Amino acid sequence: MTDVEISVVVNGVKRRDRIPPRRTLADYLRETCGLTGTHLGCEHGVCGACSVLLDGDAVRACLVFAVQADGAAVTTVEGLADTDGTLSPVQQAFRDHHGLQCGFCTPGFVVSATAFLQETPDPSDDEIREGLSGNICRCTGYQGIIRAVRDAATTISTEAPVTPQA
Ligand code: FES
Ligand code: FES
Repeated sequence: MTDVEISVVVNGVKRRDRIPPRRTLADYLRETCGLTGTHLGCEHGVCGACSVLLDGDAVRACLVFAVQADGAAVTTVEGLADTDGTLSPVQQAFRDHHGLQCGFCTPGFVVSATAFLQETPDPSDDEIREGLSGNICRCTGYQGIIRAVRDAATTISTEAPVTPQA
């Protein structure tokens, strides 16, 4: 099949690439863009390790063709921190609350939690469990992850809002 050209903004950087039409978004990000923070576990939509933001919504990059991201903005775990390396509130909270052990699932959890907290800024523990139920971790027992998301929600809610200049 003939390669197709796509135009995607990846972590704020505009890209144009020619790719096979059946290349998944996960393979595009890892192999074409070199962004290996997006992990591949099951490769069929079960584990959530490959979660990225597609125009702000969390998607499983193993289930999306890269051509479907043509014209869209994709954010991977690498794009969540500030450009100076300051971790995002969710990344910092995972670090502070031992929300990871081997780290394989962590990029997916961090991306999913980031999207979840945008939709549900003041979640209960049950809502956190439900919101992240599409992500699987085989190391932590999830308690540190729940604590991290709860703490990130508090941090985000107490951050000073950005007020536009008059
Ligand atoms: S690798 Fe995509 S959901 Fe598991
Ligand atoms: S920290 Fe190892 S799978 Fe989650």
